[in-house]
Amino acid sequence: MAVPVSSDENQIDPLIPADEIAGRVEELAAELSKILPAEVVVLALLKGSFMFAADLVRALRTRGVRCQVEFLKVSSYGNAKESSGRIAVQGDVPGDLRGKAVLLLDDILDTGRTLEWAQRAVKSVGAESVTVCALLDKPSRREVPLEADLVGFKIPDRFVVGYGIDYAQQFRDLPYIGAVRD
Ligand code: IMP
Ligand code: MG
Repeated sequence: MAVPVSSDENQIDPLIPADEIAGRVEELAAELSKILPAEVVVLALLKGSFMFAADLVRALRTRGVRCQVEFLKVSSYGNAKESSGRIAVQGDVPGDLRGKAVLLLDDILDTGRTLEWAQRAVKSVGAESVTVCALLDKPSRREVPLEADLVGFKIPDRFVVGYGIDYAQQFRDLPYIGAVRD
């Protein structure tokens, strides 16, 4: 039976179906399990990476990597489609990262500012190592020289939503990733 498309999805062009995301998350976990120790602290940047983090930590556990899960709320977009260029941080970097192997997760690597800031913040509290993983990467948008250790999908410069990613707080609940039509 066909699943009805809800009316707000008329503005979305599907890009990455849910089963492709699930397959890629398993592959990322397999790759990460080769480079990470048996215990890591996952630091997931909110809100966009909550779904990715939820799936990835379960896939990591089945491959022998146990995750302590921490979150940090960081935003640069407000409700707009363009980054403000300024990073707003709510809360503190978790205090017990000294000597830990940290896996830093974000939904999208865009200009690179957010992950560059977060990587520096995690190092500054004495983490032993920081591995950076982003589900999506828009390489054409990079403004600071940050590369993730692993990315799920390289995508063109379009504004995307779904699988945790929002436009003005909408569409995080879509199970697939799609681009908002201009
Ligand atoms: P950066 O600091 O410019 O790399 O921006 C990364 C952040 O911008 C991500 O964590 C996202 O929250 C947000 N972002 C970038 N591109 C998009 C998009 O296409 N849709 C929704 N949020 C985005
Ligand atoms: Mg974000």
